[in-house]
Amino acid sequence: MRAIQMSSFGEADVLQVVDLPVPEPGLNEVRVRLHAAGINPAETYIRTGTYAFLKPDLPYTPGFDGAGIVDKVGDGVTRLRPGDRIFVAAILAKRNTGTYADMVVCDADAVHPLPESLSFSQGAAIGVPSLTAYRALFQRARIQPGETVLVHGASGGVGLLTVQLARAYGAHVIGTAGSADGLALIRQNGAHEVLNHSSEGYLDKIPALTNGHGVDVIVEMLANANLEEDLKVLAQYGRVVVVGSRGSVELTPRLAMIKEADVLGTALWNAPDCEYTASIYGVAAALEAGTITPVIAEEYPLEKAAQAHIDIINQKGAHGKIVLRNDLGAK
Ligand SMILES: NC(=O)c1ccc[n+]([C@@H]2O[C@H](COP(=O)([O-])OP(=O)(O)OC[C@H]3O[C@@H](n4cnc5c(N)ncnc54)[C@H](OP(=O)(O)O)[C@@H]3O)[C@@H](O)[C@H]2O)c1
Repeated sequence: MRAIQMSSFGEADVLQVVDLPVPEPGLNEVRVRLHAAGINPAETYIRTGTYAFLKPDLPYTPGFDGAGIVDKVGDGVTRLRPGDRIFVAAILAKRNTGTYADMVVCDADAVHPLPESLSFSQGAAIGVPSLTAYRALFQRARIQPGETVLVHGASGGVGLLTVQLARAYGAHVIGTAGSADGLALIRQNGAHEVLNHSSEGYLDKIPALTNGHGVDVIVEMLANANLEEDLKVLAQYGRVVVVGSRGSVELTPRLAMIKEADVLGTALWNAPDCEYTASIYGVAAALEAGTITPVIAEEYPLEKAAQAHIDIINQKGAHGKIVLRNDLGAK
């Protein structure tokens, strides 16, 4: 089978297309024939060998998320059968051979039914992004219906699903993006108000948009750029959930003191089993009800994984999720 494999850590060109033996599922494991794999920024950090949560043994095939058809089940698996249409969310799986490949073997617990209404690309966009959105909103910020949520960086893989979930839960949602297309997309996906984070002074509009109250919760995709300003627009007892950060920031702690604000980190890797399981159930229910619908920005052939890694980090004007497809010829 085709797979993307890295034999050293480094720039995107360490991601090579190779031919590997088809892996066999063991006890409580399944093999999936993949149609699509999700590209997450974390996989680019892992590729450099400097990621706090995972430095894999080499050679390594990346990828936690994917979608396809169950090909073979190992002993002990009763919930899934060959032919089932499923998505893979394997970030916390004990075994995961990597979804940037034609086939993946992983724990059966990491494989879930894909609603008929969703494409394989959409299925590949569920795992890390939706579980992160769910954890940030419900397990870390503990949002309440009627609260105002600012999704700071709402146009990407995590952001759009955060907007959808928060809106469906009864929050007043403000979303930011850096492009006109991104702003339109956020609005279509449920944001009541949109702001362009590339415009000078865009957060100055927050008091007017919240009747002077400020925002109760901020789900933050670029904390190193925004945390100081976030604390200024937060309401009394507000919470900022740091989902993404790519550097350090100088901060005025008094801003947190004045409002008794909480700055909360989140990372799926830290989720206790019970909370991770709860988030899977929550996401599955939201998919079934149509509350969340992943938005696909670009599909790349599997062979273009290296380019996808470059583009997800350098892109300006995100408009959904970047995925790899197994059934597109390399261009
Ligand atoms: N903690 C966790 O467990 C966890 C899980 C998943 C992801 N993450 C992190 O969360 C971040 C987002 O992930 P993703 O998959 O959604 O990535 P993505 O699809 O590449 O989206 C990136 C988002 O960041 C926005 N952005 C760019 N400049 C910004 C700014 N100055 N202020 C606010 N937002 C800005 C982009 O908006 P425009 O392109 O429109 O400017 C886009 O909405 C990444 O840093 C990722 O590593 C963390």
